[in-house]
Amino acid sequence: MEVIIQPDPQAASLVAARIVARLVGEKPAAVLGLATGSTPIPLYRELVRLHREEALDFSGVRTFNLDEYVGLGPEHPASYSRFLYDHLLDEINIAPHRVHFADGLAADIPSFCGAYEAAIRRAGGIDLQVLGLGTDGHIGFNEPTSSLASRTRIKSLTRATRDANRRFFDNPEDVPHHVITMGVGTILDSRACLLLAFGREKAEAIRAVVEGPVTAMVPGSALQLHQHVYILVDEAAASALERHEYYRWVYANKPAWQQYG
Ligand code: GLP
Repeated sequence: MEVIIQPDPQAASLVAARIVARLVGEKPAAVLGLATGSTPIPLYRELVRLHREEALDFSGVRTFNLDEYVGLGPEHPASYSRFLYDHLLDEINIAPHRVHFADGLAADIPSFCGAYEAAIRRAGGIDLQVLGLGTDGHIGFNEPTSSLASRTRIKSLTRATRDANRRFFDNPEDVPHHVITMGVGTILDSRACLLLAFGREKAEAIRAVVEGPVTAMVPGSALQLHQHVYILVDEAAASALERHEYYRWVYANKPAWQQYG
């Protein structure tokens, strides 16, 4: 894991955007896995800026979103597809047929999930998967005890996750109980992962993901089994890391061509 500690969320998001931009520059037909939540918003804002002001070209890119609420379609303001259109996809040059969503309105969810996995495979696999982190260490909507080999499927949310996401709904009761999420195994199949976490409330989860044991109780800890993971954190989210001095030293001593900041 490459742990990159930055002074604040904005600085970390600029580094993340450079990682995405470098990939898209080197591989114009890159396949991106996209996450929602408040954490990646500054990353998407910077990608939109790079597109508008520095001509970053997304015309060859394909995207797959990580997760979605069952029962919500792109018209629903709290759906993850709406979120991604609003924060990124409507603002860059990507054709609709290159954008793939977990379909919260699918009539046959198991068949949809199988087809989604097949579509990812047909696209050649995900080159870079953007991830946020739940305070309990979940990635996507893979709640604690999710199989580390899991694939795209329906999941039931924990009370804690429903509570955390209440802020996006007018009525707390409206937060769906069920979601579709790429599995931990699906995420591990991507060629690289970029996990973002900001704020003191994510510090314990980051410590568990980076320095704890690999356990289904902390689904993000499965990333320790992946060869190519960037962990981008601000000082607050890094504050519980035991080895933070080491991570800082490694990043500061990277050759310039390997640095993103
Ligand atoms: C939800 C999403 C996750 C996200 C998490 C954290 O559970 N399914 O993908 O990482 O929330 O959200 P936030 O970035 O708003 O803290």
